[in-house]
Amino acid sequence: MELNGKRALITGAAGGIGGAITRMLRERGARVAVADRDTGGVEADAHLPGDLLDGAYADALPGRAAKALGGLDIVVNNAGVITRGPVTDSSDADLALSLGVNVTAPFRICRAAIPIMAEGGGGAIVNVASCWGLRPGPNHALYCMTKAAIASLTQCMGMDHAHQGIRINAVCPNEVNTPMLLTGFARRGFDPDRAVAELGLTVPLGRIAEPEDIADVVLFLASDAARYMCGSLVEVNGGKAVA
Ligand SMILES: NC(=O)c1ccc[n+]([C@@H]2O[C@H](COP(=O)([O-])OP(=O)(O)OC[C@H]3O[C@@H](n4cnc5c(N)ncnc54)[C@H](O)[C@@H]3O)[C@@H](O)[C@H]2O)c1
Repeated sequence: MELNGKRALITGAAGGIGGAITRMLRERGARVAVADRDTGGVEADAHLPGDLLDGAYADALPGRAAKALGGLDIVVNNAGVITRGPVTDSSDADLALSLGVNVTAPFRICRAAIPIMAEGGGGAIVNVASCWGLRPGPNHALYCMTKAAIASLTQCMGMDHAHQGIRINAVCPNEVNTPMLLTGFARRGFDPDRAVAELGLTVPLGRIAEPEDIADVVLFLASDAARYMCGSLVEVNGGKAVA
């Protein structure tokens, strides 16, 4: 995987998977601009903190990253939020938040990044969707809907922009050991360590994913090793598909 000297923008870089992607890209010689609400704790080559629900901020991110890094080769739309419950338990605020972070922000970022990458001769975008966007999981209606939307957008953009030398793909993880999962357990009153161990028993590979398991596949899709992949949705699930 040749990533040395590549210039990358990562959203959700202060989170579990985003942190691993940022660290591993930099270990391979890439230069990384990080976006999150607070990027203070993340080692990076450029810091672009802000709220992805702010449309002007999301629109401007690729241009600001390109300016800070001297160009833009890779974008990873990784930031995400999860809301629980069937639609009857979902508020207007849940709907706006889920659509805003999981769909509208990546749409805005891709729309702004594609012309910049095209001008630079091409690039790669990796969106972080979910197994739950490919098949429905119980009691997470809005989350599944938004992940299905970003999966579909990825397939469409992968087709539409391949001719510009821009490859757009998505990873679709199942459960990953990150704050997103752990805070969900805590909210439901489960002991996080025990819940992670028990959940691991439901995975054919014997454990849930660590952030690095997902980041490795993101790096592959971002690299020239995936040079013929456009619009693919890659499940990374330890053998556990959503039933
Ligand atoms: N953890 C899992 O089990 C799992 C499974 C499948 C897919 N995913 C997806 O992986 C991606 C990364 O999730 P994670 O598990 O690392 O979660 P995480 O909560 O650790 O990280 C998500 C990051 O997104 C950032 N973010 C959220 N809303 C934002 C906003 N409005 N503006 C700026 N930043 C914002 C958060 O601050 C956080 O740092 C998400 O898209 C998530 O849906 C996670």
